[in-house]
Amino acid sequence: MSTNRRALLKVIVLGDSGVGKTSLMNRYPYAMKQTMALSTQFLRLCNFLYICISTFLSSGGFLIDGLFRYVYNKFSLQYKATIGADFVTKELQIDDKLVTLQLWDTAGQERFQSLGAAFYRGADCCVLVYDVNTLKSFEQLDNWHEEFLKQADPVDPNLFPFVLLGNKMDVDGGSSRAVPEKKARDWCASRGDIPYFETSAKEDYNVDEAFLCVAKTALNNE
Ligand code: GTP
Ligand code: MG
Repeated sequence: MSTNRRALLKVIVLGDSGVGKTSLMNRYPYAMKQTMALSTQFLRLCNFLYICISTFLSSGGFLIDGLFRYVYNKFSLQYKATIGADFVTKELQIDDKLVTLQLWDTAGQERFQSLGAAFYRGADCCVLVYDVNTLKSFEQLDNWHEEFLKQADPVDPNLFPFVLLGNKMDVDGGSSRAVPEKKARDWCASRGDIPYFETSAKEDYNVDEAFLCVAKTALNNE
């Protein structure tokens, strides 16, 4: 582990189309959406402003706090497929470290995937997402897991950290789920004890907790 007190953590979010990857990231408070099309200079300026605002927030800027929640902490029922990739960043304090979490949202639809191996390289953690109501999205996890390891090519594939999220827990109050919790936990255990969270982007359930675990898991791998 690095001894530097700042860390930039790259996290890649994968999973079938429609499972709620983008919705989960939009739910994550204060995470700032940026697109790959923006120039690096502009991204740097955004990051600088964002860090200034975050510092102000942590010293009690309640008005801006509310505004950020209003602008970013949003859920939409309308499905808009992700094309290529987008990322959001979030500043977190974990123990004595200031962590910038860079969460990369990817396209689940094959025709919108245009990411080469270079995109996956240097990742500190991979988040896999499935929909608890759709068996197929769970069955595809093996493929996403394998594909990630193939592309990212980490030093030790057996030690690379993943986190699994079972999303859409709110649907019919959980009664229409197609994947029992035990089945998901067994899958995680068989893959080297992957941390598992059941979430709802719609109801804002367990989203903060899940991403905090992602940040800690990524930091351990830095
Ligand atoms: P791709 O970009 O195609 O890979 O899809 P995605 O995984 O990003 O899915 P997205 O976040 O766009 O969500 C797909 C649909 O599911 C949208 O209509 C969302 O409103 C809905 N959705 C996402 N999360 C939830 C959830 O927790 N509960 C419910 N009920 N619906 C959700
Ligand atoms: Mg998406």
